[in-house]
Amino acid sequence: MKRTHYNGRLNENNVNEHVTLLGWVHKWRNLGSIMFVDLRDTTGIVQIMINTDKIEVPDIRNEYVIQVEGVVALKEAENTKLKTGKIEVIAEKINLINTASTTPMIIDDNTDALEDTRLKYRYLDLRRPCMQEILRTRAKIVRCVHEYLDSHDFIEVETPILCLSTPEGARDYLVPSRIHKGHFYALPQSPQIYKQLLMIGGLERYYQVARCFRDEDLRADRQPDFTQIDIETSFLDQEQFLTLMEGLIAKIMKDVKGIDIKLPLRRMEYDEAVNVYGSDKPDTRFGMHLQDVKELFKDSAFEAFKNAKSVKCIVVNGVADKTSRKVMDELNMQARKFSLKGVTVIKYLNSEFEGSFVKFLSEEEKEALKNKLDLKENDIIIIAASDNNTNVCFGLGAIRSAYAKELGLIKPETYDLLWVVHWPLFEYSEQEQRYVSNHHPFTRPCDEDLKYLDTDPSKVYAQAYDIVFNGYEAGGGSLRIYDGKVQKKIFEILGLTDEDIKNKFGFFINAFNYGTPPHGGMAFGLDRLTMILTGTNNIRDVIAFPKNLSAVCPMSNAPQPVDEQQLRDLHIEISKED
Ligand code: AMO
Repeated sequence: MKRTHYNGRLNENNVNEHVTLLGWVHKWRNLGSIMFVDLRDTTGIVQIMINTDKIEVPDIRNEYVIQVEGVVALKEAENTKLKTGKIEVIAEKINLINTASTTPMIIDDNTDALEDTRLKYRYLDLRRPCMQEILRTRAKIVRCVHEYLDSHDFIEVETPILCLSTPEGARDYLVPSRIHKGHFYALPQSPQIYKQLLMIGGLERYYQVARCFRDEDLRADRQPDFTQIDIETSFLDQEQFLTLMEGLIAKIMKDVKGIDIKLPLRRMEYDEAVNVYGSDKPDTRFGMHLQDVKELFKDSAFEAFKNAKSVKCIVVNGVADKTSRKVMDELNMQARKFSLKGVTVIKYLNSEFEGSFVKFLSEEEKEALKNKLDLKENDIIIIAASDNNTNVCFGLGAIRSAYAKELGLIKPETYDLLWVVHWPLFEYSEQEQRYVSNHHPFTRPCDEDLKYLDTDPSKVYAQAYDIVFNGYEAGGGSLRIYDGKVQKKIFEILGLTDEDIKNKFGFFINAFNYGTPPHGGMAFGLDRLTMILTGTNNIRDVIAFPKNLSAVCPMSNAPQPVDEQQLRDLHIEISKED
């Protein structure tokens, strides 16, 4: 297939050149003796002018694949909508290469197709320039990663896809073994165990653009199969490691967005993130901080405030006159998702407090609220109280984020990057009535907290860090335990018996006996980084062939039942129940 130029790269410098182009018919208009075709390829669109009296023209319809030979000419009037709008190509010959059926969606950045249709015909959706731009940005990020890590002595290593279950906390995707009846491989939730074994294997600096698989509830920023930029290093302390990773982030921001970010990035303690921003992935592009009003309500006439261990609030500016009963009901619903009974809303209008709660407020409390919260006309105060401070903070944090979106407090194209450090090692799961790891069981406790492992595990903090980017968890990691005894203790706190430890991690624990270097690492979510850098809030937009929210690929309809024989080979019988 001869081609001399890409369509989108033609410009005034090509005027008078003979060119041969390939591509899809994006649009066509027949004006009698003249016909215009917008010819699209992966680089963009150029207008073709066809004099139908002079040359033979095959039948041309949208999305037909054609080859055009012609001469580049300056246009009289520029088409400012096209990058190539100053020129057009006067056709001398047109070859029809392939026809196309009428497409089920408009192939243009401004398509009106629903996401279902776009996913079902993803190969057509991918013809839209904006989709190709996203994939190009994604590829650029990956290229930066290779360049940066290669130049810092990292070795790229592939780890198995058929492996033993890895403990990242989600459900595994399992693959039955044909040869070993009743045995299953797990698809990796991450290469965690392997990368640590690579450190024991002496590689010192590993990375991989790794596919990971997690059977968990899907959200706008979660897919069942996704990609991590997975990294592990030996002999670095936390600060040395974070500095090395900041270099990578800075290169990505420079190469992909042309932005110089200021280093070092802010390090925010987990406790500050939760207590001030109500989130372990705080968006610091706007204020509306959580404020502690426990002291202010210590003698409150409202028993729930007086007695609760934690009473916090946020102030939302300029919405009192818009805060209807319905809005308050929605706020209560939001709060209940965080196991709170609800929230109390007080309006500040005409220099007076308003709302059903005002009857509980003494004059001193009113004065104290005004002073502490720096109230302005038309503000509202949203208060949450509970014995569980985490629920109070996360509940108010969710409300804070929702208001920021609604009130447009976040300027577009602003980037906010920080590390959240010093995480609690464990979280107590009410559901399971036991401690669970906040990151994973291999995370190294802070040395000064080792003493609490036996007495009060809730007091143990970890040498762990997340990178937070515009309120998303864009990556996370930790230094790892390299002392077999500490590792065993952690497994015990997590409720694993000796038998469990031996069966699940025996080979891993054993490896630690042969001279394990201190090591640590992290994984960036490539999909999330791409989302942020391309300005979409939908992870499906940055993945060529994603699954929908029910974990189905609408294009291939995977997952599907398989033949009886395939099941028999795998020793599997499908239960007729449920
Ligand atoms: P973690 O589980 O925090 O850490 O994952 C690292 C990063 O991967 C991204 N991510 C996801 N992206 C899309 N869909 C998902 N379902 C999904 N789950 C996670 C997030 C997250 O920050 N082995 C450790 C890393 C380490 O300790 O080195 C791990 O996997 O951006």
